[in-house]
Amino acid sequence: MSRAPARGAAGLARRTRAAAFSIASVALGASGCTGPTVPAGPALLAPTTTAQPDPPARPDARRSGFSDMSPATQAIQRDDAANPAWLWVEDGRQRFAAGCGRCHDVAAMAGVAARYPAWDAAARRPLTLGQRIAACQARHVSPSAAPWPPEHEARLALEVFVALQSRGRPIAPPADARLEPWRERGRAFFVQRQGQLDLSCAQCHEQYAGRRLAGSVIPQGHPTGYPIYRLEWQGLGSLQRRLRGCLVGVRAEPLPADGEEATALETFLMQRAAGLPMETPAVRP
Ligand code: HEC
Ligand code: HEC
Repeated sequence: MSRAPARGAAGLARRTRAAAFSIASVALGASGCTGPTVPAGPALLAPTTTAQPDPPARPDARRSGFSDMSPATQAIQRDDAANPAWLWVEDGRQRFAAGCGRCHDVAAMAGVAARYPAWDAAARRPLTLGQRIAACQARHVSPSAAPWPPEHEARLALEVFVALQSRGRPIAPPADARLEPWRERGRAFFVQRQGQLDLSCAQCHEQYAGRRLAGSVIPQGHPTGYPIYRLEWQGLGSLQRRLRGCLVGVRAEPLPADGEEATALETFLMQRAAGLPMETPAVRP
């Protein structure tokens, strides 16, 4: 399997995003092209199921970024055999069996991703699913090794495999009062204007959602499908990486990896998306 080195790909993504936003900052709301047209990928490893139902339309106005994608990109996500994220799923399946299976049943992972971030007593803070997996690795599997950062290959592969076990389930953040201050902190960040473009997450993802920005439709920004296979990255990436793209896009400082602010933001975003179905592994342009 071919995977671009994460740093190089991220650098390219950053530059591409920054360029797209700088054009777009003057063109918000102007109509653009019809979005990327991408040939379907080759049939990859044999997945367990292939045809995926579309995320259902909702009575409220919230919708997955899936509905804002071009038909060609939607087709890749609909077909597990065409979705390149399955390379990482298979890798994760093997890693899980080898390193995690002695303590965890795969079946017991059903629904877990839908209720993360969750409070961790030992860390005395919420952990995202990726952080939870890295913590298990550090606490129970290889205590002497350096902790896995968000884009670590093994962490991403295990995260996509674990989150797949929640596919189709509604996002269900825990009713845990200890998470409230974190959600509030995330909410405050979401509405705060950022960067040289002086735009908040809310301006783009609420006010301007559905409008075009340099050719792509601005989605509502729900974290329903992470980790995602992003065509622009040519690889699998975490929600933190996606958010870094948005922050760099408005010329703001990216958040430190696995830091409190990034975790608070993810805790808020999952609450904001409560009830929307998980669609990992999603494909995004
Ligand atoms: C030695 C046993 C052990 C191993 C090995 C282990 N874990 Fe865990 N895992 C635990 C325990 C115990 C917990 C509960 C929290 C804690 O004490 O860390 C947990 C919690 C979790 C959770 C959260 C479950 C929930 O319901 O909230 C996930 C996800 C998880 N582990 C994934 C993994 C992955 C992926 C691996 C392999 C890299 C792994 N674990 C390896 C013992 C283990
Ligand atoms: C200038 C407008 C803009 C701002 C500001 C912005 N974003 Fe985005 N965001 C986008 C666009 C455009 C995309 C989709 C890009 C694509 O897929 O091509 C996106 C994608 C996303 C996604 C992925 C949704 C999915 O379906 O996977 C999330 C989550 C997200 N943004 C959250 C945020 C957060 C949180 C902030 C604030 C820190 C933020 N964004 C700031 C424009 C913006």
